Amino acid sequence: MAEMAIVADGLVKRFGDFTAVDDVSFSVARGEVVGYLGANGSGKTTTMRLLMGLLRPTAGSATVLGLDVACDAERIRPRVGYMSQKFALYEDLTVRENLAFYGGLYGLPLAELPGRVVTLAERVGLAGREDLLAGELSGGWRQRLALGIAMVHRPELLLLDEPTSGVDPAARRAFWNLIYEVAEEGATVLVSTHYMDEAEHCGRLGIMRSGRLLAWGAPAELKRQTVQGEIWELTADPLLTALAALQATPEVIEADLQGDRLRVQTKGGAGGEALLRTVLDAAGCTVTSLTPGEVTLEDVFLALAR
Ligand SMILES: Nc1ncnc2c1ncn2[C@@H]1O[C@H](COP(=O)(O)OP(=O)(O)OP(=O)(O)O)[C@@H](O)[C@H]1O
Ligand SMILES: [Mg+2]
Repeated sequence: MAEMAIVADGLVKRFGDFTAVDDVSFSVARGEVVGYLGANGSGKTTTMRLLMGLLRPTAGSATVLGLDVACDAERIRPRVGYMSQKFALYEDLTVRENLAFYGGLYGLPLAELPGRVVTLAERVGLAGREDLLAGELSGGWRQRLALGIAMVHRPELLLLDEPTSGVDPAARRAFWNLIYEVAEEGATVLVSTHYMDEAEHCGRLGIMRSGRLLAWGAPAELKRQTVQGEIWELTADPLLTALAALQATPEVIEADLQGDRLRVQTKGGAGGEALLRTVLDAAGCTVTSLTPGEVTLEDVFLALAR
């Protein structure tokens, strides 16, 4: 059994003269939950389609579960659960019928289907809704059904393409709990998202921009590597004068209004608290609170964009 669930080595995908995936290399060990973060059009879906063998790489190579995506796609697909961003449900079939249909499609023995449907419906939180038409399900429930379908054949690897887009926070949380349950049972999960808070919960993550993989690692590691200097949170009076003064300070990388406070990133070794107090004092502002802030993945994202 291959130790690595995914190894991408210099993957390139061009559409005409447009490069959608540009020299992307990474590896995912079995049992990992890896996030694949990137803005619209950054190449997340294209990467997943390459890994599923649905697209042929223009250059580079990849293996999935030890098999080459370019020539072994037919052996890969039965072992991978792919939840496409534009997943298809049969709207006029019930939850039960959808699960059974896809189970059959994936070659589960007929006698096994009813039991598998019960297990999956329970699994994804659709127990009691088995007889609803897929077309009657609201957003979050549709995603759950699509996840159930992706898992119907007990795949070793799940490729989930923005599975939580457009669902409410409670449903997103439930979805992530599910992802971790599945991973605990031994499955590997690569999940794309553009929600920073979700990426925060991944063991490791990749950050894509314009087809390039800008960073790959554990969230804490990426924060350490990419974000320089210090983060501060402060309140001052008048707040907008303080904001303007900080934004005009060369040692300040970024200053933003966040609700009723300011979040400030200063350059490393810039003098931190003392510097901020001096700047604000000179601007005629009274500092009412000043505390160190946490580095977030948003900071990582912005640092990489610079
Ligand atoms: N078949 C295709 N032909 C031409 N261009 C394509 C094709 N598929 C994708 N692209 C382009 O490649 C780029 C990357 O697309 P991709 O769908 O991989 O991005 P994404 O990160 O999944 O975006 P989103 O967050 O919107 O889903 C986009 O600019 C897209 O328009
Ligand atoms: Mg996409």
